[in-house]
Amino acid sequence: MASSTVFLDLLGPQRASEKGTTCPGDLPPASDPELVERARAARATLGDRAFVLGHHYQRDEVIQFADARGDSFRLAQQAAARPEAEFVVFCGVHFMAESADILTGDHQQVILPDLAAGCSMADMATWAQVDEAWEILEEWVPGGTVPLTYMNSSAAIKAFTGREGGAICTSSNAAKAMAWAFERAERVLFLPDQHLGRNTALAMGLEAADCVVWDPHRHEGGLDPDRVRAAKVVLWRGHCSVHHRFLPEHVDRVRERIPGVRVLVHPECRREVVAKADEVGSTERIIKVVEASPPGSSWAIGTELNLVHRLATEHPDKTIAFLDRTVCFCSTMNRIDLPHLTWAMEELVAGRVPNRVRVDSATRAEALVALERMLALPG
Ligand code: 13P
Ligand code: SF4
Repeated sequence: MASSTVFLDLLGPQRASEKGTTCPGDLPPASDPELVERARAARATLGDRAFVLGHHYQRDEVIQFADARGDSFRLAQQAAARPEAEFVVFCGVHFMAESADILTGDHQQVILPDLAAGCSMADMATWAQVDEAWEILEEWVPGGTVPLTYMNSSAAIKAFTGREGGAICTSSNAAKAMAWAFERAERVLFLPDQHLGRNTALAMGLEAADCVVWDPHRHEGGLDPDRVRAAKVVLWRGHCSVHHRFLPEHVDRVRERIPGVRVLVHPECRREVVAKADEVGSTERIIKVVEASPPGSSWAIGTELNLVHRLATEHPDKTIAFLDRTVCFCSTMNRIDLPHLTWAMEELVAGRVPNRVRVDSATRAEALVALERMLALPG
């Protein structure tokens, strides 16, 4: 089967990942009344040769075609558990497709229906920045730090993490992963989401003063050896452009607007928002908390809008509100729409492999070590 690939190498001396062609000339218009039927037909023709994964933040029009849906941890597990599928069609963002490629066999090909579906948080830690930071930290405190990297990072950063004795984590297992890291070193470098890192550290009983922030845009991260030596967690100055927009005053306002509402937020939100919320949890936990709540209960949810809409639709017996009306969809997650998914599946049916995401073997081997450390954490 033909596969066209364009090589992209922005992330460091290791080749990060290869990307296939994007910008399909034959992209069906969103207004095509046959689109759902076309997608159904292509999906049926592919049968067991393809496995379609959908992140909870995907649009409804896409998620209806997902064989498995989940948060990034669950999707990584699902990708690893499908060795029989020739194609893994990943409806999510680029770092998730890279992780799926790392966790799947050489005989499998991972497809991202739109290669422009990146993640602004993952882009906030480039390989060159992390390499420089690590060199300085090692000079200041030799052997005193272990990297712990959020799934939302490039394959090159995951490879760095594996090479330097660290592990990957997701919002579902960040506390377990941090405990694992503290068994190995007195200090953790948490990449690239400062909010998840800080929220996790504080939930584990550390103080705000135990955390310092490494700013990759300042000389030596804006830190000095004494501050790093005194710190238990060095947080990378990155954030999610969706969750970062929720503010503490949004919590106050929604409590005024909906009496008795309970506020449930993702740990990618700022500390001040988490402190005011009633519950904090990963995407998967947010879903479980809403499912387990009694009819008539009211929730204001601080996470991506597609998921909050879906929860509201699936739980008509509960009041489900978005924490703040001005916060919008994740624009990169939303790039995967029905036209792109239909196009990608029809290309596969036609014998062409579109938009393949492929991590080179050296990066893959080191990143796999870090991912497997995560998958081996106690359940
Ligand atoms: P989880 O899937 O780990 O909840 O992360 C949320 C997210 O922002 C994914 O991009
Ligand atoms: Fe990245 Fe945030 Fe979008 Fe997730 S929701 S893909 S972290 S920008």
